[in-house]
Amino acid sequence: MFGETEYDPVRQFSSVPIEEQLDALGRAVDAGKIRYIGLSNETPYGVMKFLHFAENNVRYPKIISVQNSYSLLCRTFDSGMAECCHHERIYLLGYSPLAMGILSGKYFASDGAPSDARLNLFKGRYSEGESRYSLTRNTLKLATMEYLGIAEKYGIHPVSLAIAFVLNHPLVASTVFGVTKSWQLEEVISACNVALTSEIIADINKVHAKFPNPCP
Ligand SMILES: NC(=O)c1ccc[n+]([C@@H]2O[C@H](COP(=O)([O-])OP(=O)(O)OC[C@H]3O[C@@H](n4cnc5c(N)ncnc54)[C@H](OP(=O)(O)O)[C@@H]3O)[C@@H](O)[C@H]2O)c1
Repeated sequence: MFGETEYDPVRQFSSVPIEEQLDALGRAVDAGKIRYIGLSNETPYGVMKFLHFAENNVRYPKIISVQNSYSLLCRTFDSGMAECCHHERIYLLGYSPLAMGILSGKYFASDGAPSDARLNLFKGRYSEGESRYSLTRNTLKLATMEYLGIAEKYGIHPVSLAIAFVLNHPLVASTVFGVTKSWQLEEVISACNVALTSEIIADINKVHAKFPNPCP
């Protein structure tokens, strides 16, 4: 159900059986081609199935990570996935921590972001980006503006707030971010040293309660 946010029992999804995947991955680990395995865009059901098969066959490797979206605008991991990962000692490699650049605030600035910014450059040609991160979605804009307000209130760069929020999560091992300019890389790297106080987290959680997961 890649790309779907709701499960539809009427639709049948076919994929390579999990045991077959684990068998192939186990052979790649044994051959020294890879060290560890993880899943991506996974659900609690998928995580538990992979673990179940690995527990019952010593030749199958145990997953150690999941790569799901995680940002101020997408905290869907925090429900069933977080519970599974906590109890099974699996860590999140949260991708798109800046919500594709939206959390920098540039798309809601008076100039609407540079023409070479991703959601402008590929406008109308980027279905994943535009469905999940539709700039015309009201809740996305309202939530982003409130997060920018929190950054301003505490004198933190918006990129720092977004990255520090993700890294602050106890189940996050790392975050998978993107940059197109070296100055962006510098902003993201310096964000890694920013610590969020409990006061800032409380303000963030208030916005999340008002606008939960505008980009699920
Ligand atoms: N498993 C999956 O299904 C999946 C899905 C999505 C992504 N991923 C992985 O996650 C990686 C990162 O995803 P992402 O690119 O969406 O992450 P992101 O970190 O949320 O967005 C990165 C984009 O934001 C803009 N940006 C970065 N720093 C900025 C700054 N300081 N100020 C303003 N804009 C800034 C840049 O684009 P512009 O310069 O063009 O604005 C950059 O390419 C991908 O490369 C991929 O490996 C995995």
